[in-house]
Amino acid sequence: MEQEAAKARISELTEQVLALREAYYARDELLADDAEYDALVAELESLESQFPALAKDDSPTRFVGAGTSTLFDPVRHAERMYSLDNVFSHDEMRQWVDRVRPVASSMRFLCEPKIDGLAINLRYQSGRLVSAATRGDGITGEDVTENIQHLGAIPAELSGSGHPDVVEIRGEVFFPIEVFHEMNNSLAEAGEKVFANPRNAASGTVRLKMEGRSEAKQQSALRRMRALNVVVHGIGAWPAPSVDTQSEMYELLRSWGLPVSEYAEVFDDIDGVIGYISGLGERRHDLDYEIDGVVIKVDSWATQRELGATSRAPRWAVAYKYPPEQVTTVLRDIVVSVGRTGRATPYAVLDPVTVAGSEVERATLHNQDVVKAKGVLIGDHVVIRKAGDVIPEVLGPVVEKRTGTEREFEMPRTCPECGASLAPQKEGDIDLRCPNQKSCPAQVRGRIEHIGSRGALDIEGLGEVSALALTQPIESQTPTLTGEAGLFGLTLADLFPVAYQPRDPDTGELRVSDEGEPIVLTPFKRRRAKDDPESVLGFAGTDTEVPSKAALELLEQLEAAKQKPLWRFLVSLNIRHVGPVAARALASHFGSLEGIQQATVEQLAEIDGVGPTIAQSISEWLAVDWHQEIITSWRDSGVSFVDPEWSPRTADADSGPLSGAKVVVTGTIDGFSRDEAEEAVRRAGGQPVSSVSKNTTVVVAGPGAGSKQAKAESLGVPVLDQAQFGELLSRGMAVVEGS
Ligand code: IVH
Repeated sequence: MEQEAAKARISELTEQVLALREAYYARDELLADDAEYDALVAELESLESQFPALAKDDSPTRFVGAGTSTLFDPVRHAERMYSLDNVFSHDEMRQWVDRVRPVASSMRFLCEPKIDGLAINLRYQSGRLVSAATRGDGITGEDVTENIQHLGAIPAELSGSGHPDVVEIRGEVFFPIEVFHEMNNSLAEAGEKVFANPRNAASGTVRLKMEGRSEAKQQSALRRMRALNVVVHGIGAWPAPSVDTQSEMYELLRSWGLPVSEYAEVFDDIDGVIGYISGLGERRHDLDYEIDGVVIKVDSWATQRELGATSRAPRWAVAYKYPPEQVTTVLRDIVVSVGRTGRATPYAVLDPVTVAGSEVERATLHNQDVVKAKGVLIGDHVVIRKAGDVIPEVLGPVVEKRTGTEREFEMPRTCPECGASLAPQKEGDIDLRCPNQKSCPAQVRGRIEHIGSRGALDIEGLGEVSALALTQPIESQTPTLTGEAGLFGLTLADLFPVAYQPRDPDTGELRVSDEGEPIVLTPFKRRRAKDDPESVLGFAGTDTEVPSKAALELLEQLEAAKQKPLWRFLVSLNIRHVGPVAARALASHFGSLEGIQQATVEQLAEIDGVGPTIAQSISEWLAVDWHQEIITSWRDSGVSFVDPEWSPRTADADSGPLSGAKVVVTGTIDGFSRDEAEEAVRRAGGQPVSSVSKNTTVVVAGPGAGSKQAKAESLGVPVLDQAQFGELLSRGMAVVEGS
């Protein structure tokens, strides 16, 4: 490949990998399966080694994780949490051993399952658990101590003796597969959203915020937390280890009451290792947790130290990844669903089949071109793949099994939910969209669900089920909401009659009872009046029916949501490309929706974190009549679209101590959240910027600062530590010049 082409591909891959990581770590979304993700990273690594000059300091191949979300306090790990390099074949495994051999004084290897869970760092001081943190970016993780305390498998106090003053113990938190399935079944029965796989479920549960949840939800969250399990597989900081090998360390950890893998085994040579890999591969689904490979570690600690680590992964350990498993099943149908943005996505309805330990009944086919490219016909036997935790994928047909009764899929010309003609949004687009944005029930439902989501207004009672019930009741009813405009004006009388039919989360079909009768749920209505029905918010139900807690809670939550910060409302408006990052930037720049409405596209585009595409999208959104109606109607219901604390910061821009300075703040700064630090920079007249370039005036690097600090140093941009931040705000660049 030519240098230029390599450069373009590297930047493309970097962007993809970072986007997948961000989605996974910050939003718990799995946008690609492991194999796909690994392939992207592998391609990036290979290009970087062919063209070392193009390898960036902040390439995702050099750092693990994706930083931390803002939901939890940051915790800096005493020692870095590394990732692992992967090998995918016995040959690559042998090559790894050959690289280790010249350095190693001992060639004993410890093998154990690679658990598909959530990495956790447990800090024990004099035998007491003092903190538990997720991996985060490897340097700083999220403080999840509170939730982790509910895990029975993690001792609050170590047993045995010889506990160091401080020791960090690393492990993997996971859901036993059976518990995971039970949990998903009961979620599905309650009509709630199910978890895609045990890893997502573990990550979602460990990182669950209890505050603001109803008592019942807290109880069910606690039950979920208690069902989590852990296996420990290493240590971080341990100033004076009293053992010489990994296997002795496991014995010691076991004696302290910590669960180490019951499958760990030590081998003297590569043949033993390969035998272990094959053996475990055959019974991988008999384990009570999901695994996606084997971790092979040099047993001797002296050799581990000699080998050391790269910036991303230790050289003394490697992960052998099992190939994704494949099975065949029958493709019953291809059905099209329409999402929040109107995109029409065909998906495969399959005969249920177990692959990689869990049941698969549907798989996305992305768009009509993908269906063609895969060459599948309805009625075909098809090959399905699902590696470990993965989103299922249809690979292609088993042509030999065709009987002649199969038929070709035809992309519908009209929206399956509202009948509007499907069309590409612009010329050259492959995806077809339903143009009826305003009133297509599928789009309205999707947008309302989005409003309630974590990254938007975070309204617990406004999830998939209530969005469905409010927008798509049973046929004889008119929907309570035909758009989002009416959301904040809902009353009990609007909710009370709602009845809807739940759908099967796997097939998307309406659920029926065992007798074949349609199931109808009335989520906001409770039968049997215990209290005086009229006393409930002045609502007069019948003698036997009162509003459910769900209804009262939803109304309370909607009322409370009106006070939420402006950026959350901006996300809730469903403006294309406006996610939390752009919304925060807009809110902190303008302080009100009105300010944004009055700005020109150019003014919007200039804001750090916005840019021309988003600016254009905002301006187009604002120009639509029914969008304006949403704003007006929410305003009438008490949404202010103003951040009350906000004050114009331009006042100091010409005269403040940081006037004209472009300031990058990275890592954690004591006493400031990231937003507060940026706000403080603005108040001092400076401009907070997110990436370091030669135009950057100064970088403030708190603990956990990674590549940005390194980049600043290489460019000769002055770097201050967090203790100097206050002084920078008051004295400006004199701090740098003086130091
Ligand atoms: S050793 C410094 N052992 O896999 C070595 N990791 O893909 C890193 N993992 O970050 C940890 N099972 O969270 C090790 N038996 C095991 C593991 C394991 C799962 C996770 C771990 C690591 C990730 C890398």
